[in-house]
Amino acid sequence: MQKPAKTLHPVNEIIAKRWSPRALDASRPVSRSDLLSLMEAARWAPSCFGDEPWRYIVWDKFEDQAAWQKAYECLVPGNQVWAQNAPILMISLADTLFEFNDSPNRFGQYDTGAASENLVLQAAALNLSAHQMGGYDAEKARKTFSIPERYVCMSMIAVGHPASPDILDAALKEKELADRSRKPMESRFFEGSWGNPVR
Ligand SMILES: Cc1cc2nc3c(=O)[nH]c(=O)nc-3n(C[C@H](O)[C@H](O)[C@H](O)COP(=O)(O)O)c2cc1C
Repeated sequence: MQKPAKTLHPVNEIIAKRWSPRALDASRPVSRSDLLSLMEAARWAPSCFGDEPWRYIVWDKFEDQAAWQKAYECLVPGNQVWAQNAPILMISLADTLFEFNDSPNRFGQYDTGAASENLVLQAAALNLSAHQMGGYDAEKARKTFSIPERYVCMSMIAVGHPASPDILDAALKEKELADRSRKPMESRFFEGSWGNPVR
């Protein structure tokens, strides 16, 4: 299913195309070459001092069902209900320190978000569905996967091939079919000084 953004101004096609679907095809694996392309896209994100503070752990249900299951069990029930069909789960992690000198990196999370946006845009370009999730138990993930303290757990990401919205329960199907929307531009984008909307 496609749900392109109805933009007020022209944007690149892939930006309009990307969205966060929940109907995923459990029977269809994500090819290794597509998975590597997602990571390659993330890898080419910009970062402060070129430090590349992001880290990702990937779980492929078709490769290692037991490890995937452990990742799945970190999700909150509201995400489990649909992410059970995702052949790929990932977690993104942000380094709190610069690798080159171990001093605090206040842009680690910012850069990791940029990398993840690259990743989900690449997924859209490959006609894959990618859905980021904050709804998971980060401490459980840290313990389960031995994530060192210096990395902050950011989003988990469910990736798979799209499926029909009919596979979802009624409430999720309604969300899946609902129009996408954004807050008014003037509430977020200012010109010259704080609060003065761009016209
Ligand atoms: C950091 C982050 C956390 C999110 N957490 C969840 C989540 O736990 N469950 C969920 O269904 N969607 C989650 N989303 C998806 C957002 O709800 C979605 O991106 C937003 O509503 C805009 O919709 P769109 O991505 O289709 O444009 C998350 C997105 C981001 C970026």
